[in-house]
Amino acid sequence: MVKLVIQRKIKDFNKVIKVDGDKSLSIRSLLIGSQSYGVCKIKNLSKSLDILSTISGLKKLGIKTKFTNNVCYIYGNGLNGFDYKKNISIDAGNSGTFARLLLGLLVQTPYEIKIIGDKSLSKRDFLRIITPLEKFGASFEKINNNGLPLKISGSEYLKPIQYEETKGSAQCKSSVMFAALSTPGKTIIKAKKSRDHTELFFKYLKLPMKIVKKNKYDIIEISGEKQFKSFNYFVPGDISSCAFFITLTLLSKNSKLKIKNVNVNPTRTGFITIVNKMGGKIKFSNRRKICGEDVADIFVESQNKLKSINCPSKLNSNAIDEFLIIFLLASRAYGVSSFKGLEELDKKESPRLQLASKILKKMGVKVILGKGSIKIHGNPAIDLKGKKIFINKYRKDHRIFMTSVIASLSFGGKWVIGDMESYKSSFPSFMRILKKLGYKFSENSKN
Ligand code: S3P
Repeated sequence: MVKLVIQRKIKDFNKVIKVDGDKSLSIRSLLIGSQSYGVCKIKNLSKSLDILSTISGLKKLGIKTKFTNNVCYIYGNGLNGFDYKKNISIDAGNSGTFARLLLGLLVQTPYEIKIIGDKSLSKRDFLRIITPLEKFGASFEKINNNGLPLKISGSEYLKPIQYEETKGSAQCKSSVMFAALSTPGKTIIKAKKSRDHTELFFKYLKLPMKIVKKNKYDIIEISGEKQFKSFNYFVPGDISSCAFFITLTLLSKNSKLKIKNVNVNPTRTGFITIVNKMGGKIKFSNRRKICGEDVADIFVESQNKLKSINCPSKLNSNAIDEFLIIFLLASRAYGVSSFKGLEELDKKESPRLQLASKILKKMGVKVILGKGSIKIHGNPAIDLKGKKIFINKYRKDHRIFMTSVIASLSFGGKWVIGDMESYKSSFPSFMRILKKLGYKFSENSKN
């Protein structure tokens, strides 16, 4: 196991950076591109391991892709144009998004396909998509309870469904939207609010879809079996990746950071809303639309007086991947912060709420963990000088690794952080950007 040792805080910095292309949009552009007719041209696709799993999964399904400079070409074969041998198995690696969204595209496959994943993915819940996809007519062989591996067999006689998504899960909503693409008739989804990238993508491609937006949910109607042409797409920077560096800047002294070309889709900016409520002053500039998505440059500077927050749970879905890093901000805020309705956080790559509470306790922060809730007693004077903190056995969760690195660079102490390779599953430039901000890793650090 490769471990990273960090024993110094980062010095003040004033830099302009770019982060890798957004993971949700990269996976969607590959999967939707695979269903188009012709050659798609995708710029700035993320090169994370999750995206590489998507590309090799598509290759097994007969979809060719090619990288030249920063452009990925996808050779789409039309709706249900997958072309593959019998008895194939597709390895989704660590990517729940790829596995769940792909299953939506496989509801009409002629031969059975096995989907496998790494240890963490095998522990995650697939019943949440099996249930609606079975209603379309697909059948499943469950090999490991409700997790992976599993086998899917499609149906020639798909029926449109009416489905209610109640968890605020964009993966469930999108998997059903993908299945609706190849199903005759009208599929109707009533979905609790969650990131709307799939809707914006379908709109960008002018696919037959109607959306009625209500206060707490959306009604999405999709008419299936409409072939569509290949497209060009630009993947903006991933705001979930930015969250680590925004937090580092806020927690460091006398530092400033500008991050260029970031996706600031309002269904993804819960983190920004929360930080601003806590007293951070994050500014957007150069706002524009690219391929139907909001894009802006982000500016942030150090803030030594953060306030605690009673976090409204309506922000949960829009900040779901950022809570670990938000908990670090709460640890340095004045007062007690409280977060609730976060049951979904324990269903991610690792049980993140449980593990966050353990890490915060190791840091000497007082936390009270409840069912789907956490209260964090902030300490504005927090300094871990002289403390030794070991982080290991967290199911190789990339976000726990990166959060631990940011904690060590912000609060000091000696940290030994395991499973270093994990960050590459979502954010391969993470270590390179830290070096750009001026951090020199010591000799015993592997990077
Ligand atoms: C994602 C949705 C979220 C998020 C995941 C990516 C997506 O999961 O945690 O990292 O691309 O749709 P849920 O939809 O399960 O909340």
